[in-house]
Amino acid sequence: MSAQSPSRVNAIEWRNNRLYLLDQRILPHEQVWIECTSAADTAIAIRDMVVRGAPAIGITAAYGYALEALRGGDMTETFRVLAASRPTAVNLFWALERMATLGTTDAASLVAEAIRIHEEDIAANLAMGNHGASVMPEGVRIYTHCNTGALATGGHGTALGVIRSAWNDGKVEQVYAGETRPWLQGARLTAWELQQDNITASLVCDGAAAQLFRQGKADWVIVGADRITANGDVANKIGTYSLAVLARHHGMKFMVAAPLSTFDLSLSSGDQIPIEQRPMSEVTSIKGIQIAPHEFPAINPSFDVTPAELIDVIATEAGLIHNPSKETVAALFARARAE
Ligand code: MRU
Repeated sequence: MSAQSPSRVNAIEWRNNRLYLLDQRILPHEQVWIECTSAADTAIAIRDMVVRGAPAIGITAAYGYALEALRGGDMTETFRVLAASRPTAVNLFWALERMATLGTTDAASLVAEAIRIHEEDIAANLAMGNHGASVMPEGVRIYTHCNTGALATGGHGTALGVIRSAWNDGKVEQVYAGETRPWLQGARLTAWELQQDNITASLVCDGAAAQLFRQGKADWVIVGADRITANGDVANKIGTYSLAVLARHHGMKFMVAAPLSTFDLSLSSGDQIPIEQRPMSEVTSIKGIQIAPHEFPAINPSFDVTPAELIDVIATEAGLIHNPSKETVAALFARARAE
């Protein structure tokens, strides 16, 4: 175990009862902070992906809820507006439930709870990072997908947090960041975070993963999650499922890193997870430049579901779930609740 501190990258700031979000749509070349003053502003920022990544969405929604309490708004409507912003990441609903079940409209109490949710997420990521890194061999080469770092969380990250922790332990030889079409979270955000931390890494286009794996150039795939069901199935960024199939085919290991707030034990399997469909324009154009023929249709599911049997281990702040299943997931929660 190594002493870890959150990375310098920060995407969410609460100052003087105002919420500031680093605009992830224009990173890495521009760093612009957007101020939110209401729940409606906050919901739009989540929907339009100013902020993204499951834990970051949850933290932001909690602050959005607190912002509205400061304005004396209707808290039932506030819950509804924020809950409608994005459908797949369960952390959003988890955070809103946690705020609502405080059972108060007292703004100071709600602000304090949102700050607690934010701080707890950073602590969870640091613990998860240590648990995940503990199973990494010396000289490991890791392939990761999407962005799961400090930008996607309160700090440090989930999958990228495990990579950071393993790097700090001196175990990592090479990281591959998949570019993650169509929104390019890997190319724009993960590459930027890896560069800030001077971690040895290369960017690859998504289609290169199979060839890299066939050449034996990677040992582990490590990804985050937007929702994990009671049987250990995982919804994560589109393209995750194909990486899991490829990893199994090539005899590699596959890890999912996620806090307990990403589990949805009310769903028995991944088939029940709502998958967000995003605009066709994200596929047919890049940064406003049309690349497909005009009016050519596209399909843009933002997430896919990886069945538990393709996952070797899930790293959480409460420990590791080896061979995720209904039984092993339940056992971790029982242990966590007993502590
Ligand atoms: O559409 P996004 O960018 O919000 O999707 C993010 C992901 O899929 C991440 O892998 C997931 O939220 C885990 S982030 C710690």
